[in-house]
Amino acid sequence: AGVFRRPPELLPYQTGFDDGDPSRPFARYALTQKLGQAKFVPGLATTVAGYNGIFPGPTIRLDQGTRSEVRIRNALPANGLLHPSAFRTVTHLHGSPSLPQYDGYANDFTAVGKVKNYQYPNWQSARTLWYHDHNMHQTAQNVYSGLAGIYALHDPFERAQLPQGEFDVPLMISDAMFKADGSLGYNDNGHKGVWGDIIMVNGVPWPTMKVKPRIYRFRVLIASVGRSYRPTLSTGEPIYIVGTDGGMTPTVQAVRSWRQGTAERYEILIDFRKYKPGQAIELRNLSNKNNVDFANTGKIMKFEVVADSGSSAGSISAIPTSLDDGGAIHPALGGLATMSLTPEMAKVKRKMVVDRGNGLWRINGMTWDDVEKSNFTKLFGNPQPYDVEQWTIVNSSGGWFHPVHIHLVDGKIIGRNTNGGKPFAWEKGPKDVFYVGENESVTVLMQFDTGGAAGGRYMIHCHNLSHEDHDMMIQFAVGDYRV
Ligand code: C2O
Ligand code: CU
Repeated sequence: AGVFRRPPELLPYQTGFDDGDPSRPFARYALTQKLGQAKFVPGLATTVAGYNGIFPGPTIRLDQGTRSEVRIRNALPANGLLHPSAFRTVTHLHGSPSLPQYDGYANDFTAVGKVKNYQYPNWQSARTLWYHDHNMHQTAQNVYSGLAGIYALHDPFERAQLPQGEFDVPLMISDAMFKADGSLGYNDNGHKGVWGDIIMVNGVPWPTMKVKPRIYRFRVLIASVGRSYRPTLSTGEPIYIVGTDGGMTPTVQAVRSWRQGTAERYEILIDFRKYKPGQAIELRNLSNKNNVDFANTGKIMKFEVVADSGSSAGSISAIPTSLDDGGAIHPALGGLATMSLTPEMAKVKRKMVVDRGNGLWRINGMTWDDVEKSNFTKLFGNPQPYDVEQWTIVNSSGGWFHPVHIHLVDGKIIGRNTNGGKPFAWEKGPKDVFYVGENESVTVLMQFDTGGAAGGRYMIHCHNLSHEDHDMMIQFAVGDYRV
């Protein structure tokens, strides 16, 4: 158990306006993927491969409407830390409607010594995004080695309603295992997933965070290879869900715990106002089906209440009951707010079955290998820009769960085959990762909003990174696409 820390924030090396137009700001950032030394295990150093050599990578914080460029240099050694192959990388900004060439497409790698300048539009609503490696067949090892960071997008609606600054805290949760010499251990159990015995928050095992007796907002992201979590407070107090993957939830949901798989983001409020200095509250992890638990994987972190001193700038004085996302889209664009989608709007209904066959994880009987062999012509669907579709994801894989991610779009969950047919309380906001537990199915509405771009091919995959790599990933296309 160590001291809680926030990842450092990355400042742009240049800001300005496109064509000198003050309504079109941009910010330019630079990141270098390289090895670094981290201290996870007391007294020992661990080599990580991270953005700027740290895990998690630095947080990027931006406002909606500011276009960003992130220049990423691959300065890693010739071969992977945890795989013997060439240390190729490709970065995906998860939660961004990026153009296909900047979306981290798995085959679109940057070799060691090379640089790529990624462009992000940032026209979407305030949300928690994350950037991580997506290289074909090596995503699990590359992310687990450290290639992941948080990217927080703000907008005026979110700024006016949710805690900011000191009270807006990223929590990147992951699990790991270490060898006796402190180096990262890795075992994916035959491509089933990694279940480490150490739980880390922002790269610190079971940290303790000092908090003031105020309301805090936490941006919870699971960056584990495979483990899913069910966080709960030791006090039994409610946790307030105010945001999901794609931004603020229309209504604030009080829950005792929630289920969260890899790449899902939940923004939560915890109310520490009633506690006295010196009181400690634990964030625990209740067991989820189809995970492997160890002695201390039931704990995540601890909060220790301190006296309310110093500035209170950015705090809020009451738990809101509803939130106004302002329509959730950049005013210049014509898409619909995700949470306003209705089944009547859907042009097409599709079914997507996730299962296991021939020793591989598949989606509708297809693997990434099949997509490649088809010369990238095999598509799951080809909606036109701004079409609405309804997809039902069915888990027929037996004793496994799958957090299924659809690139480009936000979706609205309208049904489940469990929970009385309804979405769970915590998932009543825009989502881009859909947790399908054992024998579960989930139905989602999506508008294929490209922000005015022509379209292209995008990935669909399980975000258990071992499943994604072997070989539970396919693609769809929006509008015009080239092979
Ligand atoms: Cu978070 Cu396709 O990735
Ligand atoms: Cu999976």
